[in-house]
Amino acid sequence: MDRTVEHYERIAATYNEHWTYNPDYVRGFSHAITDALRLTASDAIADIGCGTGLYTRRLYEDVRPTRPILCVDPVRAMLDQIPASPGLQPLLAEAEDLASGRVALPDGGPLDAILLKESIHHMPDRRATFDGLAGLLSGHGRVLIVMLPKSIQHPLFAEAHERFEQLQPDPTEIADMVAAAGLRSSVSYRTFHAAVERERYVHMLESRYMSVLGEFSEDELRAGIDQFRHSYRDTPLLRFDDHFAFVKGWVPAR
Ligand SMILES: C[S@@+](CC[C@H](N)C(=O)[O-])C[C@H]1O[C@@H](n2cnc3c(N)ncnc32)[C@H](O)[C@@H]1O
Repeated sequence: MDRTVEHYERIAATYNEHWTYNPDYVRGFSHAITDALRLTASDAIADIGCGTGLYTRRLYEDVRPTRPILCVDPVRAMLDQIPASPGLQPLLAEAEDLASGRVALPDGGPLDAILLKESIHHMPDRRATFDGLAGLLSGHGRVLIVMLPKSIQHPLFAEAHERFEQLQPDPTEIADMVAAAGLRSSVSYRTFHAAVERERYVHMLESRYMSVLGEFSEDELRAGIDQFRHSYRDTPLLRFDDHFAFVKGWVPAR
């Protein structure tokens, strides 16, 4: 956990620069989340591992829930990037804290919708944590786990792809975990198109925009970026498909 915290403390200030220069990407993604979770204004919503709230603030704009969205993250530097808004309620905590009851939901709960976007891979005991989170859901509760598949098309260097594949959980295993917690579950895939200028992407690699890049020393990262520059020397604008698994869970009707 310490390593994860260090990683996000280091990148917090630049995190939003990576994708926000393309507002359509973030907007399209947030709409997909709103649809998948079937969010409505009356839902009590939590975004667990919300980071800087880059997507949470769009969700708020899309749905305008009557209660603020609970924005949970264990890294203060990430939470500090969330704009002050009556619609967003930051909570410095790990998913495990909520799951175990060490930290109570501020309004006592339950939750109607939980979003875990690109945070599940950081949870060491995912099954126990997810069981605990599922226990916070109301009778019509829904969960959406957004995650990258095991192999991705980002223009990373070869070692980064290999390391990513070693670390990333398989979405079908995550769907099994959701079912084991007593929820109905499904997996679907969404594709978002990304276009990034090569030099901007170099900057993203340098600032370790994906946590897998935190696995490499300065020298290894420099060597990887040289490899990247060589591979894409004739491609000033990188276009790639960003595939995501949407693993849904919902409380079965009684
Ligand atoms: C890749 S970022 C995703 C942030 C945000 N959901 C987004 O899509 O922009 C992963 C986030 O998970 C958070 N995180 C790491 N371990 C966590 C844990 N045990 N519980 C909750 N969040 C965690 C990190 O601090 C980080 O902000």
